[in-house]
Amino acid sequence: MTADDDKKLAAQAAVDLVADGMILGLGTGSTAVFAIELLGKRMEQGLKIKGVPTSDASAQLAKKVGIPLVTLEEYPILDLDIDGADEVDPSLNLIKGGGGALLHEKIVAAACRQVVIIVDEKKIVERLGKFKLPVEVIPFARGSVEKTLSQMGATAVIRKKDGNIFHTDENNIILDCDFGFIDDPGALSQKLNQVPGIVEHGLFVDLVERVIIGANGQIKTLKKS
Ligand code: 5RP
Repeated sequence: MTADDDKKLAAQAAVDLVADGMILGLGTGSTAVFAIELLGKRMEQGLKIKGVPTSDASAQLAKKVGIPLVTLEEYPILDLDIDGADEVDPSLNLIKGGGGALLHEKIVAAACRQVVIIVDEKKIVERLGKFKLPVEVIPFARGSVEKTLSQMGATAVIRKKDGNIFHTDENNIILDCDFGFIDDPGALSQKLNQVPGIVEHGLFVDLVERVIIGANGQIKTLKKS
């Protein structure tokens, strides 16, 4: 079993939760790709759903597999979000944003009645923080935000792609931040929310109902207690 097999298994289990008429949040990343493709297959068999994509990439794929796209203006409350994660802790707090879509991903997650995260077991950790925390910043604020992050004890590295500064779908930049292990994700999340120029960060605290883990060909589920 490869990590991709486990991702697909988790994606299938999440797609099995989808019922006719649901409005879905469509996540971003390699695991979410499996879910969107599997949703497309279920639609071929008659399932009727609509989706709000969390990135341009997911929008393109959703269109390709025939999922009608809608907006949060049309549907401010969504039924179910299916998305991946970079790290998951035992309280179902997450680090997300490895794919750079954290801003739309968090907005969509917060708009959903239920958030289901799909991962392979490598993403499960005791404490968040080995994966560098993505922080999305307005380009104008880069210098002041870098200084504040350094005062908060983080080492921040600007994300690049193909040698150029990476820009998000909202044309912001990402600082990948090493805070060491994060003992209190809620407290750090609140601190970051208060920094002018930080648009969003990849800590998802208390947003998730269920994590479906593909683990060596088996499915494990963690549910919010
Ligand atoms: C994108 C994300 C992804 O969900 C996260 O990076 C996991 O991706 P993958 O499923 O490819 O491991 O947060 O912004």
